[in-house]
Amino acid sequence: MNRYKGLIDHYRKFLSVKEETCIVSLCEGNTPLIEAKNLKKELNIKADIFLKYEGLNPTGSFKDRGMTMAITKAKEEGAKVVICASTGNTSASAAAYAARAGMECVVLIPDGKIAFGKLSQALMHNAKVVSIEGNFDDALNMVCEISQKYPIVMVNSLNPYRIEGQKSGAFEIIDALGDAPDYHFIPVGNAGNITAYWQGYNEYFDHGFAKKKPKMMGYQAAGSAPIVLGHKVNNPETLATAIRIGNPASWKFAELARDESGGLIDMVEDDEIILAYQLLSRLEGVFCEPASAASVAGLIKAVHEGKIDKNKKGNIVCVLTGHGLKDPDNAIKSSKEVIKIKGTVKELLQVINLS
Ligand code: F0G
Repeated sequence: MNRYKGLIDHYRKFLSVKEETCIVSLCEGNTPLIEAKNLKKELNIKADIFLKYEGLNPTGSFKDRGMTMAITKAKEEGAKVVICASTGNTSASAAAYAARAGMECVVLIPDGKIAFGKLSQALMHNAKVVSIEGNFDDALNMVCEISQKYPIVMVNSLNPYRIEGQKSGAFEIIDALGDAPDYHFIPVGNAGNITAYWQGYNEYFDHGFAKKKPKMMGYQAAGSAPIVLGHKVNNPETLATAIRIGNPASWKFAELARDESGGLIDMVEDDEIILAYQLLSRLEGVFCEPASAASVAGLIKAVHEGKIDKNKKGNIVCVLTGHGLKDPDNAIKSSKEVIKIKGTVKELLQVINLS
């Protein structure tokens, strides 16, 4: 039997687990790298575009890559309770992995600002879900304070095992393409994922599995773009609630990834995000959540601004961090209306232009 058993099993030698470590896994990772030929045509560029569809992880987002490591290590260290602040996906993932490990999970969320799918996951996995009147940054400050004083393990990306697990995304991309891509487009919220990918690209390069490293192209939402603006944003806003963050924990590491790779961190407006979100669903059949589409919105912007040479061949990867089903409200708001008829064949023929 050669069953895929999750990323810790697969990339064991690059991760800090021992032979006897009991792994907590839901078979995360091993997500597809989908070629986006229609998008390439639409953008009229020579380079090939690939979508790293992280929505196909067990809880529907890339967070599972970090959570398998964070919960495995918390379990190994004897923790009974884990805690996180979240815009939604971290809470869904933490709740699922904690349930599997037989641990309690506490999640702190900004009231009314998390997508419905994500909330339903945390609740179903029996986490203690606490909503605050503040935003993600306020919630993260509370979680940091509590986890320093009490025997409760924080599983936000400030937990180094989260980053360690998430770097496996870069390994998979290099394993699939045979080398690193030329450009890596990624949404930026708390900035853990861009940090993790850059670490992964560097490690694989150092081991000789890649001959080059990509330019890291990070995108924040315009209403929540502290790194681009160069200062904290006190009241971050964006309909891409997953990245509604005004003071990213890994701010400095994101800047390092940008500078070392010769890439950039820029911002995209909400309407650019929605356009990319619709384009992916309509042109490629790939349904991601709004925050994820920030990577593709960034690619579109970079092409229009001439930051990507249209005539240059090569590989471009856009990470789609979460599944579209996470946020049905935004999906329905961004789509055509359902056509209602009474129920006769005549009416049906009319609405599909066959009469
Ligand atoms: N995309 C999605 C779908 C996310 O959920 C997040 C972060 C990001 C992108 C940004 O990644 O924070 O590593 O820069 N979500 C966190 C959460 C904050 O609580 O679920 P990042």
